[in-house]
Amino acid sequence: MSIVVSNITKEYGKQKALNKVSLSVSSGEIVGFLGPNGAGKSTLMKIICCYLPPSEGTIKVCGLDVMEQSMEVRKKVGYLPEHNPLYLDMYVKEYLEFVGRFYHLQNLNKRVAEMVEMTGLTVEQNKKIGQLSKGYRQRVGLAQAIIHDPQVLILDEPTTGLDPNQLSEIRALIKELGKNKTVMLSTHIMQEVEAICERAIIINKGEIVADNSISDMVKKGETLEKVFQELTKAVK
Ligand SMILES: Nc1ncnc2c1ncn2[C@@H]1O[C@H](COP(=O)(O)OP(=O)(O)OP(=O)(O)O)[C@@H](O)[C@H]1O
Ligand SMILES: [Mg+2]
Repeated sequence: MSIVVSNITKEYGKQKALNKVSLSVSSGEIVGFLGPNGAGKSTLMKIICCYLPPSEGTIKVCGLDVMEQSMEVRKKVGYLPEHNPLYLDMYVKEYLEFVGRFYHLQNLNKRVAEMVEMTGLTVEQNKKIGQLSKGYRQRVGLAQAIIHDPQVLILDEPTTGLDPNQLSEIRALIKELGKNKTVMLSTHIMQEVEAICERAIIINKGEIVADNSISDMVKKGETLEKVFQELTKAVK
C-alpha cells in the first residue's frame, strides 16, 4: 500500500473537519477524491503531505509514518496544493531550480529541462511566473510536484480554471504520470474522475461515504454526479 490513512480526526478549534477517516491507496492507483465544499478534502491531503498534524490517528506513506518520519515522507510525496501558490516574481526555471535544491537533486539543470519538456512549458520557460496564464502556472505547479520523482502524487484540484484544451492536456499528463506513480486527486468535475480515475472516494462532512471502483459505484442508467448528489445531499 502506498497510502494508509487510519482513523484520522482533525479538529480546528471546536470544529471537527475530519472524523475517524480511514482509507488506503495501492501503488499505481489513480484515485479521485470527491466531496462538497468544506467536506475535508484539502485538510486530509495536507495531513498526508505533512503540512498539518492530525488531532488523532496515523497515516503511512510508502510504509513511513507522516508524524514520526516526516522528512522521509516528504521525499516520497509530490504535492500540488489547492490554489497552486507560486512565487510570481521568480522565473519558471529559477523557481524549479529553487525547488530542486530543497531535494538536493543531482544534475539540477538537466532535471529542470526534463520537467519543462514533460509539462509542456518549453515556449514559456523564460518568463516570470507572474506573466504566465493560469494553465501554464498550473503546469509549473505540476512540475514542482514531480521534480524529485516522487512515488506518490497528491493533487488538490489540479485542473480548476483551465480552458478545455489545457484541461485535456493536463488530464493526459496526470494519466501518464499515474502509469508509474500513485495519484490521489481532488476535483469537483465528475467527468474528470471518470476520465482519469479507476476508483473514487467520496467524503462528506469529514466522513467517508463511498469508496469503490467507479464502475461499481455507478449502476446502470445512473451517473457519478447523481451518486455524488445522493450521498452528499444536506439532511434538513
Ligand atoms: N486552517 C483552518 N482553520 C479553521 N478551519 C479550517 C481551516 N482549514 C479548513 N478549515 C475548515 O475545515 C473544513 C474542511 O475544509 P477543507 O478545506 O478541508 O474542505 P475541502 O473539502 O477541501 O473544500 P473545498 O471543496 O471547498 O476545497 C471547512 O469547514 C473549513 O472551513
Ligand atoms: Mg479544498
